[in-house]
Amino acid sequence: MRGRSPRNGRDIGPDVVRNWRPHSFPPGLWALPFLGNIFTEVDFKAIEKLADIYGNVFSVRLGRNKTVFVSGYKMVKEAIVTQADNFVDRPDNAMADRVYSGDSGGLFMSNGETWKRQRRFALSTLRSFGLGKSTMEQSICEEIRHLQEEIEKEKGEPFNPASLFNNAVSNIICQLVMGRRFDYCDHNFQSMLTYLCEILRLQGSVWGLLYDSFPRVMKHLPGSHNKIFSHYDSLLDFMNKEVESHKKDLDHSDPGDYIDAFIIEMEKHNESDLGFTEANLALCSLDLFLAGSETTSTTLLWALVYLMKYPDIQDKVQVEIDGVIGRSRQPSMADRPNLPYTEAVLHEIQRMGNIVPLNGARMATKHTTLGGYLIPKGTTVMPSLTSVLFDKTEWETPHTFNPGHFLGAEGKFVRREAFLPFSAGTSHLFQYKAYVNVSTFVYPFMLNLQGNECVPGKAWQRWSCSCFWLVYYRSSLSLFLME
Ligand code: HEM
Repeated sequence: MRGRSPRNGRDIGPDVVRNWRPHSFPPGLWALPFLGNIFTEVDFKAIEKLADIYGNVFSVRLGRNKTVFVSGYKMVKEAIVTQADNFVDRPDNAMADRVYSGDSGGLFMSNGETWKRQRRFALSTLRSFGLGKSTMEQSICEEIRHLQEEIEKEKGEPFNPASLFNNAVSNIICQLVMGRRFDYCDHNFQSMLTYLCEILRLQGSVWGLLYDSFPRVMKHLPGSHNKIFSHYDSLLDFMNKEVESHKKDLDHSDPGDYIDAFIIEMEKHNESDLGFTEANLALCSLDLFLAGSETTSTTLLWALVYLMKYPDIQDKVQVEIDGVIGRSRQPSMADRPNLPYTEAVLHEIQRMGNIVPLNGARMATKHTTLGGYLIPKGTTVMPSLTSVLFDKTEWETPHTFNPGHFLGAEGKFVRREAFLPFSAGTSHLFQYKAYVNVSTFVYPFMLNLQGNECVPGKAWQRWSCSCFWLVYYRSSLSLFLME
């Protein structure tokens, strides 16, 4: 259980004390005083190289904080499954401290009882409003129709589907959280998506890293890091207005969405009890967007890339879908067991897409031993999901797009333990929903993709020692569909 009291504030002890390493601390790069390894380019590929040099548990110090990286399926599983309780908390960081506070840690940054309670509440509430049910499928199918209309407006000209996908996926989350969808041209909706996207980009940029390392100085300096906070303010403002209008129209006997349910729950709790406050409602709602929209829409982009890159695989999927679903009706979750090849392809897309290459940052809740090293209480721990999804001891052809990874005898779908794009343990609750999103969105696009070309643009990735995802990889694929 996440046991630390939430948002304790930053440790402002001297550098030498903060970064004291016990004798048996994991090895790693030599670090400059105060600056640590800030000048070393550390992205998820570099992390794999460091693992080759130092082993599966090693340390890097970016700015003020030392971080222990964990690599390879077996060691990651040891950390986040076997020793889940020892690494369940989220560490403090300067950016989060400025956005979240006290009992308002949202879904992502809260710890202890509050995290447990909020996580349980979010899952049961979203379930009751359709998560994993046929009502959800209906919303998704309706959204697909809007998406298709928008695509038809392009009249066969090349276009980049990234923002359309993001609109569609975010609208599904809007349905669950606010009980409504927005037109793609709605100004507030578009601003919200732009801010969400910018926040994720900036958190992973060098500005985010600098802010997190030197918050007291950076706070007073101009730079893009300031946009992170002004965007948060605008988003929270948007959410607060939504909460206000929900309060006005609330029917206690018939709550329609997550916000309604939260308001009703709030009335049962004391002020700030287990995070049931208005401030936390806005943050939790925002977290659902931050965690759910870019992740799912980027996965959809990867799906297009791989399906177009491998037309023979696309053909096989098409044949399977035509045989089971045909072209006259929408797909449904009930079709899944009858589509083993498609299922395998979707899993392989997620494995190769590897859109969250590390994990959410975790923290040792007590002195813990991992891989024979001592991880002192309070140390930030970062499991590398890339090292799991591409672990050569787990996957037959780790760097090749191969749906066979998920197919057993007679073409039956097989689950693989090292398939951890959502991380593992009890932390990720939304994988079912993400899966519904991905599969149901992808099916119609599988139809008639052939003959299209895709031009992947520049992908970027960075990592910051602070941000809520710690590492966020967004493949900003400039993918153009051409008929
Ligand atoms: C393909 C899509 C997605 C991927 C690959 C993905 C991946 C992840 C990963 C790796 C984490 C970090 C887990 C950890 O720190 O242990 C996470 C956390 C989280 N995700 Fe997702 N996610 C996806 C979609 C979604 C969706 C659709 C939602 C909700 C609408 C969502 C909500 C969350 C939340 C609330 C957390 C924080 C959980 C916690 O701290 O307890 N995710 N996700």
